Amino acid sequence: MALYAMGDFHLSFSADKPMDVFGKAWKNHVKKIEKYCRRYISEEDTFVITGDHSWGRNLEECRLDLQFIENLPGRKILLRGNHDMFWDAKKTAKLNAYFDGRLFFLQNNFASYGDYAIVGTKGYCYEGKDSIEHFFKIRDRETARLKDSFEQAKAAGFKKFIMFLHYPPTSIGEQESPFTKMAKDYGASKVIYSHCHGKDRYDDSFKGWVDGIEYKLVSGDYLGFKPEKIL
Ligand SMILES: [Fe+2]
Ligand SMILES: [Fe+2]
Repeated sequence: MALYAMGDFHLSFSADKPMDVFGKAWKNHVKKIEKYCRRYISEEDTFVITGDHSWGRNLEECRLDLQFIENLPGRKILLRGNHDMFWDAKKTAKLNAYFDGRLFFLQNNFASYGDYAIVGTKGYCYEGKDSIEHFFKIRDRETARLKDSFEQAKAAGFKKFIMFLHYPPTSIGEQESPFTKMAKDYGASKVIYSHCHGKDRYDDSFKGWVDGIEYKLVSGDYLGFKPEKIL
């Protein structure tokens, strides 16, 4: 039994959105995802997929993309990425009911992995694209969602946590954020995140050990589309 993570598949089985325009790392990326997931992950493993699953704008346009994810090996837990338009944040419970036994959508809830709780949310960081007011609004909302996930896991008796975000835990240049503080306060042992594409962005936030917590970037292109073993 093992825990794996990778994100940013940016699938488009139903939409015309070739990804190779983003550089040679993306050439045949869907084939690579399938090949490496089948090579490394087995049915008894858990696979956290850290957001930006599909370019589809609604559930119907994402149907084939989510089906592709469903067919990958292991128990699949999905985070919400900034591109996941099919996932209405207020309707996560509905998605979980619909995909029950096939996919688990992680937001305002948690999953267990042995004696670890898998907690997470989309997260947010400042990328210079929105006003500072809007940034604080989204970040506060995401901080509250993450806290809810931790609190539910704690109430269920969990003392060990692995924290997942789609966005990097800090904005560029920040030494800490509400997300890194929460990881510390609850005693998370690892923080896993995604979203960063291209070598100019891979160092946007923490990687390695910071304050006794291991930070890992698992965006697909960073990993060469080989899922990363977390535990
Ligand atoms: Fe992405
Ligand atoms: Fe993203």
